[in-house]
Order: sequence, then C-alpha cells, then structure tokens
Amino acid sequence: MASTYGAARVLVASNRGPVSYTVGEDGSLNAKRGGGGLVSGLSAIGSDADALWVCSALSDGDREAVRRGVGEDGVRMLDIPADVHADAYNGVANSVLWFVHHMLYQTPLEPVFDAEFRRQWASYEAYNRAFAQALAEEAAEGAAVVVQDYHLCLVPGLLRELRPDVRIGHFSHTPWAPPEYFRMLPDDVAGQVLRGMLGADRLGFLTQRWADAFAECAERFADGLGGTRIGVHGLGADADFLRQRSHEQDVEERMASLREQIGEGRRTIVRVDRTELSKNIVRGLLAYRQLLDDHPEWRERVVHVAFAYPSRQDLAVYRDYTAEVQRLADEINEQYGTPGWTPIVLHVKDDFARSLAAYRLADVALVNPIRDGMNLVAKEVPVVSDAGCALVLSREAGAYEELGEDAITVNPYDVTGTAAALHEALSMRPEERAERAKRLAAAATALPPAQWFVDQLDALRG
Ligand code: G6P
Repeated sequence: MASTYGAARVLVASNRGPVSYTVGEDGSLNAKRGGGGLVSGLSAIGSDADALWVCSALSDGDREAVRRGVGEDGVRMLDIPADVHADAYNGVANSVLWFVHHMLYQTPLEPVFDAEFRRQWASYEAYNRAFAQALAEEAAEGAAVVVQDYHLCLVPGLLRELRPDVRIGHFSHTPWAPPEYFRMLPDDVAGQVLRGMLGADRLGFLTQRWADAFAECAERFADGLGGTRIGVHGLGADADFLRQRSHEQDVEERMASLREQIGEGRRTIVRVDRTELSKNIVRGLLAYRQLLDDHPEWRERVVHVAFAYPSRQDLAVYRDYTAEVQRLADEINEQYGTPGWTPIVLHVKDDFARSLAAYRLADVALVNPIRDGMNLVAKEVPVVSDAGCALVLSREAGAYEELGEDAITVNPYDVTGTAAALHEALSMRPEERAERAKRLAAAATALPPAQWFVDQLDALRG
C-alpha cells in the first residue's frame, strides 16, 4: 500500500475509515477493523495496488494513534479538531444533509437555518478542505479518487482546483432528495453542495431513482450536469462472507440462546437496524401490535426479534427516538405478554454474531424504512436464513428496485398495511417462501462489494 506522498494511485475518502482505535488502561492502542461493504469492496484491489484510504480520526483513541504515528498500512487518518468535526458531522452532515436526503424534517418546526447553522457550515467547509488537501498531497499523477457520501460533498470541487490531473468520483450511499425538498437548503448552501459534487468526473448512486433526483436538482439549481457523468451501482450482499461467517461457533451459540428466548414452535419476525429515524422502527412496532390485534390467532405463536443498535447518540433526536423504541416495546410486551410468551425480544447492544443468528432463524424479515439509500439487511437476510424467509420490504428502500418482485412490499407510513403484510408473510406456504427467498438471495448478491468497487473504478478511468 502507498506510504509516501504522491504515490497513491487509488484513493478512497470517507468520514468513517476501516479501523478505529481505543486506548487500553495501560496506554496501549488497540485497533478494531470495521465491517461493511466499503471495507470488503476495497480489499478487492489488493495490497500491491498503491491504494490509500483517507478518513477522519473519530475517537480519542484515533487521535492518539495519529499523534503517536501509529497506523494501519494504507490508511491515513486526518486529525480534524474535535469541535470542527462535531459541527461538520453532527451539525451539518447528520442533522441537515441526512435529514434532507431522507426527508425526515417535521417541517412546521424544522429546519431552521440561522447563525448557528452558518457557523457549523463553515466547519463543514473546513472539514471538506482538510480532506481535499490530504488527497491532493497523496495522489499520484492521474490517480483515481473515490469520495464517499454526504459528509464530503464539497471535496470533488475543492480537489479539482488543487489537482486538475486526477480522476474524481463521488459515491452517495444515501438517497438524493427531490428538488422540492432539496430547495429547503439556503440557496448558497444548495449551490455549494451541487457545485462541489459536480467537480467530480463521475457520480455514483445506489439506484436510478436517486441518480434521477440528483440530475433534476442539478438541472434546476445549477447549470445542469456539465461534463459530470452519472452511474448507478447497486451494492449487493457479500454471499461468501455471510454464508461462512454465519456458521461459526459464536453465531451457533447465540442461536441457541435466541431460540430459548423465542420458545418452542413459534414463528420469528426479525428486524436489525441502527436505531435510526429513517428506519421507521416505531411504526414497525405499531404494525406488529396491530397484527396481534387484527389476528389474535398469532398471539403466543409469533415473536418479534428486534435489534436496534445505538447510533449517533450525540444528537438529541436520536436519543429520544431510541427511548421511544424502548418504551413502545415495553408497552406492547406488558399489554400482550403472558407468563410463557414475550411478544418482542428487543436488543440494543450491537452484536454482529447475534444479528447473523437472528437472520438464520428468521421466518419473516421486516425492513420498512421511510427512505433508505439501499438497505443491506434486506439483502442479507434472504441469503443467511436457514429455512428461507419472507421479506416485508418498504417501497422507499433502494433495495426495492432489485427485490420488489419477490418481497411483500409496503408503504412505510401505512401501519395497517404493514400489519396486513406481516400476516401475509407469516401465512405464506413454506415452499413458496423458500422459492422466493432463493430468488431474493440471487438478486441480493448480484453485485458483491468487491465487484461494486471495481466497476466504479473502471467506469471512472474509462
Ligand atoms: C449510512 C451512511 C454511512 C455511515 C453509516 C453509519 O449508511 O451512508 O456513511 O457511515 O450510515 O453512520 P455513522 O454516522 O455511524 O457513520
């Protein structure tokens, strides 16, 4: 991997990198490698490819690693001042751009673009400039740089000014807002976002729908796409990895304890999410409650296994949402539970092996986001589930474009409709369920992460 300035031929830039560090009590630094599509995608380009991943130091451990000059081969962590990072990440990226693209605002009250926002926006600019600067230093002549996501919208334009010779791609892992929603952003900010993105040679999106929305915004609020090309790359599940990992010992152990919690002979509805407003966990629980009301025959015969892992807890709306999920699950358990039956098994501590265990046990997977760039859970469960699960899927998830045919699709706002879909999924004949799951798994793994990344690089260079 590239280690000297100006040597990298393939560069990736993202807020969250492939490793994070913690400081042990004795002062030692421990590295933990993250999972996810991007990490496995990048491993495909190998160690001799002069590749470099530029990311942000997020934790105290990361900053300490940067200070001591410790680091993984092929990764450069930027030590952005903590307050600048907080403004850029919490204030702008996750409270504004994420909310716009997922259309999450409760518009009579939010958003409010005031002096505080302007201050945070200045940090977002500084944060993007730090990335552009580092990429400009590291990139070899004519290198390919792929910038990831809404945290780094301004990087392509800034990097283009510093290094006109490099090929610049940007990939969005989120939806893109339609023009009527995007125009909520102050005009100058909207213009900067679009011009920043349009500094790229090529923009990648997860579905045609998000790509079209971007093109419409560029048409209406900038001078069109100019020379920028747009491509669609629907990231798929990593079948080989999932199948192998989900049969390891720790997963088997967690299956045993989940089976105990579920109880003998009961159906299992599984959901696994970050506790994220866009994932629509509360309406999912309401739909499950309505299922128990509309179809009392399922009482004692079904358990909803819901994993809602904490996310972005620096933000009050996320903390409140987390509390509401917990409160509602408790309420439903109290209302319907019997001595031998707990209707909802809710876990909030992140545990990948336990997620895989739940996938294997799933009869039904519930994936009902309000809006979602892709949603990999929808793609992973059909691959892993032992008996082949039915998929209840929101039509607002990017994955719907590829999986819609064999899933039972729902309008995520329609709680009654979602309850009916759960009933339909639970009632599906096992043979039909298994057949559909097979087709779902095939569609879900059509573009494995490694190929997804290579395709983007090829298109950028081509
Ligand atoms: C989404 C975004 C990613 C982000 C992830 C987790 O998938 O597209 O960029 O990394 O959520 O969110 P976090 O804020 O924890 O990085």
